[in-house]
Amino acid sequence: MDLKRSIESVRKSFLADIENLPADPQKQESFRVRYFGRKGEIASLFHNLKDAKPSDRPQLGQLLNDLREDLFSAFEEKAGKSKSDGKSGENEHVDVSLPGLHLPAGSLHPLHQTLKDIKDIFMSIGFSVAYGPEIDDDYHNFQALNIPKHHPARDMQDTFFVDDNTVLRTHTSNVQIHLMEDEEPPLRFIVPGRVYRNEAISFKSYCLFHQVEGLFVDKNVSFPDLKGTLELFVNRCFGSDVKMRFRPSFFPFTEPSAEVDIWSESRGEWLEILGCGMVDPEVFKNVGYDPKIWHGFAFGMGVERIAMLKYGIDDIRLFYQGDARFLEQF
Ligand code: DAH
Repeated sequence: MDLKRSIESVRKSFLADIENLPADPQKQESFRVRYFGRKGEIASLFHNLKDAKPSDRPQLGQLLNDLREDLFSAFEEKAGKSKSDGKSGENEHVDVSLPGLHLPAGSLHPLHQTLKDIKDIFMSIGFSVAYGPEIDDDYHNFQALNIPKHHPARDMQDTFFVDDNTVLRTHTSNVQIHLMEDEEPPLRFIVPGRVYRNEAISFKSYCLFHQVEGLFVDKNVSFPDLKGTLELFVNRCFGSDVKMRFRPSFFPFTEPSAEVDIWSESRGEWLEILGCGMVDPEVFKNVGYDPKIWHGFAFGMGVERIAMLKYGIDDIRLFYQGDARFLEQF
């Protein structure tokens, strides 16, 4: 059993040598070749297997296989250890208290979040959500709202015309008309949606923005109902310590009309967030509601304005640039 003795002596010399395995990768490589190479120590032991007695060969073959496996894993472990400065290897363990990988999660766009907040507030006090067309005829966007052709009130909104009689809606108020044409009173709706204005783009105006329209029609509706509803909205949206005021204003489709401002501490000024008023009897007549029986209030608010105030954003264009550095803050 010469081969058996040779196996043991190779094992011994390997174990002595591996203790002093150099860190230099080139020297490690020649160490590897010396033992595990095609003409290395182990290969030559395998070569000698053919000289052993046939009856001893299975046992010797097994011993050789074990030797090769043991030595190779010892070599790999030692070589791996020296590579990582002795920091891994048999002392390696998993630290389950380490923070996990940070996988970036998306978040809602600030406009979407603001729209959702506004909807939630009005739905909690009994309003339903309705939608209407963004491309509409002149009649629904203007005339039915008491804004005749060539009337100076048209100058309040710079309009994108699709053709002589078709516009990109300049406000969500067009949906007031659609709703009243389609439904019998009483009505209690809010209408979120995109609107378009042909305005010079700057930090405070954009060609596209969002509004939420409100329309409440019933038999005994008066200005205090409008005031109470909007006060509740402002308190829920901005917190109960925010200062707000109603300021008389003019809209062709409401009489009387008002605007609501809220006080911005950071800017030290009042900022307008919405227009509102009691539905003008002319508008009721246009949709076939009897203004002697039905009364209503309406309002329209700018969603970008509200989001800018809520989050302290000072440039409306940021909402539309898709810049991750901005969006990641929400
Ligand atoms: N449509 C108006 C605008 O875009 C806002 C508005 C004012 C809507 C008064 C209303 C309202 O419903 O009653 O400037």
